[in-house]
Amino acid sequence: MPAFTATAPGKIILFGEHAVVYGQPAIAVPVLEVQARAIVNARPGGQGINLIAPDIEISGGLEDLALDDAIALVIRLTLEELGISQPPACTLVISSSIPVAAGLGSGAAVSVAIIRALAGFLGHPLPDEAVNRLAFEVEKLHHGTPSGIDNTVVTYRKPVYFIKDQPIQTFDIPIPFTIVIGDTGVVSPTVKAVSQVRASYKAQPDLFQNYFNTCGMIAQNARFQLSDRRNPSLGPLMDDNHAVLQKMGVSSPELDTLVEAAREAGALGAKLSGGGQGGNMIALVEADQAEAVAAALQDAGAVRTIITTVR
Ligand code: MEV
Repeated sequence: MPAFTATAPGKIILFGEHAVVYGQPAIAVPVLEVQARAIVNARPGGQGINLIAPDIEISGGLEDLALDDAIALVIRLTLEELGISQPPACTLVISSSIPVAAGLGSGAAVSVAIIRALAGFLGHPLPDEAVNRLAFEVEKLHHGTPSGIDNTVVTYRKPVYFIKDQPIQTFDIPIPFTIVIGDTGVVSPTVKAVSQVRASYKAQPDLFQNYFNTCGMIAQNARFQLSDRRNPSLGPLMDDNHAVLQKMGVSSPELDTLVEAAREAGALGAKLSGGGQGGNMIALVEADQAEAVAAALQDAGAVRTIITTVR
């Protein structure tokens, strides 16, 4: 059996994180500059699936992983989907340049890369719908109550206007634009931020419903701006969205410092992206300002910056 390789990109949420868990629209785009990669090789004479994932210090048989391990789950779900109980002996090598627990969709990307590589190796490539469905099952382990936006944008590799439990709406960007991503270096599992927002929502339902509605309106407005060929003015909408996320308690001093630094360096707008409380922020910039804004973010403490063109 020939070796099979699959990759999956990172992602950023442009608008609507957290509110999307409560049924509001959100917009996410793939980040192709970072990616997860899975390679499956035949292992003649061996037995079962052998795993090598140096980034997360995994090396050994599938059976050695805990039952609730995300990688074990994604492999099991893929084999079940294909109706294969005894896969041929193989080695699955997993690597990723997407920072972990940083709001860039690393968990979803690793899942999608594994599903595609394993299914391809076994001779039954899966359609996007199935890949997305399986990756969503694994997201539940990472996130608790995920909206499904991360696995969707990573699977389809296209900008997505996402509303939970509604048909997937990918779309084209008429005028490409540039985003600088700044990493606070603060590890922040999404599940923690999502749980905190849930607790706050339970304690103050009216206030938080109001925040969610505002985020939803911002995302709707942004979707409209994104289809306008003449005058996309997303920057102020990003600033507005960040202000609501601050009130929701999912920003952090490090995120606010980077957001402020980006604005001072001339960004058109900036906000945290993803679960928050650490992880990454994003800034909308004119293409010729990108390097200067990235440098300003590094001066303000960003441990990594990525410049990406959304198209
Ligand atoms: C995480 O990338 C986005 C959140 O809205 C969680 C989710 O939608 O599942 C924080």
